[in-house]
Amino acid sequence: MNLDNTHTSNFLSSVGCEKPIIQAPMAGVQDSRLAIAVCNAGGLGSLPCAMLSLEQIENEITNIRTHTQQPFNVNFFAHHLVNYTPEMEKEWYNILKPYYKKFGLTERDISNTGGRQPFNQETADLISDLKVPVVSFHFGLPNDNLLEKIKNSGAKIISSATTIAEAKWLQSKGIDAIIAQGLEAGGHRGMFLNSDVTAQLGTFSLLPNLVNTIDLPIIAAGGICNDVTANCAFALGADAIQVGTAFLLAHEANTTDRHKQALQEESANDTLLTNIFSGGIARGIRNQLIGDLGIHTSAPPFPYASFVTDPLKKKAEQEGNFEFSSMWAGQNACLTNTGSATEIIDMILPPSCIGS
Ligand SMILES: Cc1cc2nc3c(=O)[nH]c(=O)nc-3n(C[C@H](O)[C@H](O)[C@H](O)COP(=O)(O)O)c2cc1C
Repeated sequence: MNLDNTHTSNFLSSVGCEKPIIQAPMAGVQDSRLAIAVCNAGGLGSLPCAMLSLEQIENEITNIRTHTQQPFNVNFFAHHLVNYTPEMEKEWYNILKPYYKKFGLTERDISNTGGRQPFNQETADLISDLKVPVVSFHFGLPNDNLLEKIKNSGAKIISSATTIAEAKWLQSKGIDAIIAQGLEAGGHRGMFLNSDVTAQLGTFSLLPNLVNTIDLPIIAAGGICNDVTANCAFALGADAIQVGTAFLLAHEANTTDRHKQALQEESANDTLLTNIFSGGIARGIRNQLIGDLGIHTSAPPFPYASFVTDPLKKKAEQEGNFEFSSMWAGQNACLTNTGSATEIIDMILPPSCIGS
């Protein structure tokens, strides 16, 4: 256990990163701009690729390399698609129908694209050719062949565990470090072996358990937003921290004005878990749709629930109504501050805390 107040990360030092902090990849609210700013401030900047085309991924990586010499991380979703039937869609539509009516939408407005694609062969080929320093996955790992391809390209591989069993499974796949994603975390839970939310652990329990049972560097994620919470994570044995919500108010993030406002009001104290936007369990700020439906048994599996929810969200937003939008945030959202990425990193890891 590290009770010293200076911190270094074995994992991040091995990739040439100066500070023991990873900026969490956050699909939908950031692009290469935030990643570059974090890299240039000494942290590991991340590019969320789950919602990007191959061309966009390549352009974004080129942009990162043009603006920083520092190592960076690219992030993908590694879910395995399950069967999605018209019956599932109909059942979900029937739940959302009253809201569809309110906005003048009909069943014909349901989309059949836009779901997040899992990491596949074409993406693996591209990423392996581009030889990136770090690749992180959410929702487990891609199949062994794809994983091998990325390992052989020289990239270090990390992935999120939300339980001890998931961490043991990830370790058995020979990856380089494990992100302990506690229940406080904003955005999608990376859970992939068990769908029982009641079995999920908070950072304060998951982290020391993984430090005790896993023989890999453990990166703490969930609820870390300032120097006090960062010091707790290091005291519990974290090799590094991965921070998402605290970067939502960064000048270099693309967080919408409404989302930023919600993060700075009383509403930031009220986050909850829901599966209604994608089918996957995620934490966001309460609004009408989350409050009404919470975790709903009729929501189709990840990522298909979005086919019915997305058109509603888009139409409502066009009318300036964000009660049907996801505004992902973690349980410590109320402790976030505005600033540049550099200022936010200095708040979380004051220069006196960085070991050499
Ligand atoms: C707005 C938002 C979007 C996120 N999107 C992703 C993503 O695309 N990929 C991923 O691996 N994790 C994603 N996450 C989860 C983070 O990796 C991380 O687990 C979480 O931010 C840590 O908790 P914190 O938000 O309390 O710092 C997201 C989190 C937020 C807040």
